[in-house]
Amino acid sequence: MRWWDIEPVLALERELFPEDAWSAGMFWSELAHARGAGATRRYLVAERDGRVVGYGGLCAIDATGDIQTIATARDQWGTGLGARLLTELLSAATAFECREVLLEVRVDNLRAQRLYERFGFEPIGFRRGYYQPGNVDALVMRLVMRPTTESAEPSASAEPSASAEPSASPASPVHGTQGNPTHG
Ligand SMILES: CC(C)(COP(=O)(O)OP(=O)(O)OC[C@H]1O[C@@H](n2cnc3c(N)ncnc32)[C@H](O)[C@@H]1OP(=O)(O)O)[C@@H](O)C(=O)NCCC(=O)NCCS
Repeated sequence: MRWWDIEPVLALERELFPEDAWSAGMFWSELAHARGAGATRRYLVAERDGRVVGYGGLCAIDATGDIQTIATARDQWGTGLGARLLTELLSAATAFECREVLLEVRVDNLRAQRLYERFGFEPIGFRRGYYQPGNVDALVMRLVMRPTTESAEPSASAEPSASAEPSASPASPVHGTQGNPTHG
């Protein structure tokens, strides 16, 4: 994603997240961290026939990735585009050497939850009232990344692992400070 993609992304954002759409400033701020040697973000857009039809973003800090947002245009749902974007974001997480990837998803967004489950994400807790103003809880999900082999070459593998690690109880509340409420 580059700055000139922000306008078409915002149009999708307002349609797909009508209650808590990110502002242009939030995307500008994310993109400011996506370039250069110390980059901590990877933002993508998918285009079809010159139109932006999907986007997603990952933040990676201290070996922990966080899916910040992921969305596809309504007329693309069910075509596998969401899965392709998620595959790319997990590939970026591998490049950032993340050991785990977290995300928040509305408890009522079963479609997105199914997508994440297919990739091996597991529920680890809730953030109560995370989505405002609707006061909707977020389900927190986690994917433990497969350790890469000892190699100087960065692994290109985006294969998510089926983690052998026990997860925290799905009912446990998750605490911690947050930046932007995330959409993924
Ligand atoms: C959640 C979201 C990103 C999923 O994107 P998508 O493009 O529909 O995702 P996919 O097509 O990869 O997978 C979705 C479904 O389509 C099915 N599918 C995938 N490829 C397919 C194909 N070629 N033909 C038919 N169906 C297909 C998948 O099996 C999946 O079905 P299931 O959910 O019943 O298991 C999208 O619905 C969206 O943008 N929603 C609004 C924003 C949002 O909620 N974002 C997530 C915030 S946490």
